[in-house]
Amino acid sequence: MNDLLVDDVNVHYGDLQVLWDVSLEIRDDDDVVALIGPNGAGKSTLLKAISGVHPASSGTIEIFGTDTTELTPSEIVRNGFVQVPEARNLFDDMSVYDNLKMGAYTERGSFDETVQEVYEMFPILEERRDQKAGTLSGGQQQMVAIGRSLMTKPKLLALDEPSGALAPQLADRVFEKVEEISDDITVLLVEQHVDKSLALADRGYLLENGRVEAEGTGDELLESEAVKEGYLSV
Ligand SMILES: Nc1ncnc2c1ncn2[C@@H]1O[C@H](COP(=O)(O)OP(=O)(O)OP(=O)(O)O)[C@@H](O)[C@H]1O
Ligand SMILES: [Mg+2]
Repeated sequence: MNDLLVDDVNVHYGDLQVLWDVSLEIRDDDDVVALIGPNGAGKSTLLKAISGVHPASSGTIEIFGTDTTELTPSEIVRNGFVQVPEARNLFDDMSVYDNLKMGAYTERGSFDETVQEVYEMFPILEERRDQKAGTLSGGQQQMVAIGRSLMTKPKLLALDEPSGALAPQLADRVFEKVEEISDDITVLLVEQHVDKSLALADRGYLLENGRVEAEGTGDELLESEAVKEGYLSV
């Protein structure tokens, strides 16, 4: 059984079609699958289709063997999939702790346990638990957004450009965390840092103009002409 199966998916915004016959899979032995491509390629749109935020107009999406194509976003979360959107959507005026709480809809008993797990992953969040999220640095806010998504105990986590707009050093920290998370949770990683994400990924997909233009192992894609010519500055 695949963790994720996207089969022949088309997505429109009104009359405008932005994804064309997109197929992608995350196999059960994949830890990280990377989705790369230029601005406007449709990467975030694909995540929105998978999470049910903006459903596909045709095609099939299966998460851990369940057809989720027609399910609502919260039903899809219950099937083990959660995405951290590009805009982190934090509650700026709420504390770090309360933001984490917003991610949880588990029973009170396991909430404390889960928040402890998140603090272990991101010690800075425990240190800053009472600070308003809006006053954190960009990198710290990204940690809150990821931490909040972990509160739902996903089995499959999609991250939409987690290192976006971060200084190189902070971006590296995010990549380290993604690798750590992927020990337990399968990660679908959308990234502009093509070399870093493909180095980390078991497999990857290159999306251009709403179509899958190349796919393969991380190494195969790094060596492919499509990626070398378009995405790696030599
Ligand atoms: N709500 C919307 N309404 C209309 N068009 C949209 C909407 N959201 C995205 N689009 C269009 O769909 C296309 C794909 O956008 P999308 O955000 O999925 O790209 P992306 O690959 O995530 O790009 P980026 O790397 O810049 O985040 C773009 O042409 C964009 O303008
Ligand atoms: Mg995007």
